Amino acid sequence: MIFEQVATGGCQSYLIGCPNSYVAAVIDPEIRQVERYQAIAAQHGLRIRYVIDTHTHADHFSGSKRLGAALGVPVVMHKLSPAPYADMRVDEGETIKVGETRLRVLHTPGHTRDSMCLVSNDRVFTGDTLLIGATGRTDLPSGDPGELYDSLFNKLLKLDPKLKIYPAHDYKGHTCSTIGDELTDNPRLQKRDREAFIEMMRTLSLSMPEHLTEALRVNMSGGVSVAQLLFEAATQTPFMTLEDARDAIESGANDFIVLDTREKEAFEAGHIPGAIHLPRGQLELRVNDVLLDPTVRILCTCEFGKISTLAAQTLRRMGFSRTVALDGGLQAWRDQGFPTEIGAA
Ligand SMILES: [Fe+2]
Repeated sequence: MIFEQVATGGCQSYLIGCPNSYVAAVIDPEIRQVERYQAIAAQHGLRIRYVIDTHTHADHFSGSKRLGAALGVPVVMHKLSPAPYADMRVDEGETIKVGETRLRVLHTPGHTRDSMCLVSNDRVFTGDTLLIGATGRTDLPSGDPGELYDSLFNKLLKLDPKLKIYPAHDYKGHTCSTIGDELTDNPRLQKRDREAFIEMMRTLSLSMPEHLTEALRVNMSGGVSVAQLLFEAATQTPFMTLEDARDAIESGANDFIVLDTREKEAFEAGHIPGAIHLPRGQLELRVNDVLLDPTVRILCTCEFGKISTLAAQTLRRMGFSRTVALDGGLQAWRDQGFPTEIGAA
């Protein structure tokens, strides 16, 4: 088996490939690594045929939808997954054929209702059901400590102790363990009594993961994160550096407009001299009154350089094809000591 482990912070994802048929699958892709999985597959001469999520992730953004769409291949999830973009739903005992490599599905609810482990010849991808030295938590939506106990002790841990385990998370730099080592060393697995295990899981005081609400929204619906929205806008918008913007303003060109997209109070407290004020929230409403000439160069500004990117993208779509966004925003402009003026437009 061709095998690559890709870590993003504490998130672990995997590319497995069949060396004879050149077919591959990616397990638990992270959205920032979508290009990388494709590059790794190409390096090995593999074609990714499946994108698999072991469960609905609550703490990071799944790359499955994007990777599946980019490659035109199915996103595989357990049949209980709420994600509408999961187009190949699998259940207990079913097998995914990755060339000559087989991944057998074990439904292992507990961390989430839709959690599954994927068993191949010498290893098992455990998602967040079993981690190295820990287990997945059971206090997030659809988690259940009793179900996790049953999934672990009545199913996963009954597999061959020599099987290697590869989890969806590891924060301590481990890359791999075995079922046998976890049975003896994993502190969470030492409570073998069901009630004692449930009590232990209920009394863990774990902090909430960052981006919980947003990750669940994106991963359950197939929508985009705010970061993704900004990233996509930035790929369709040219930027102007602070220095080039200052020079363009100083040159006094009559086909150059600075458009400040912040709210009124922020604009009046200090804006680039000569800027026109059109808040982002009123852009579509007032564009026809404020921007009369589609051939002028428009420099969109805001406080941090993000909302102005969205505004620039919108203006470009409307036909203001020379629109750019200020790289860095007003905060960076002031930090450079560049001039501002106060007062109403
Ligand atoms: Fe998880």
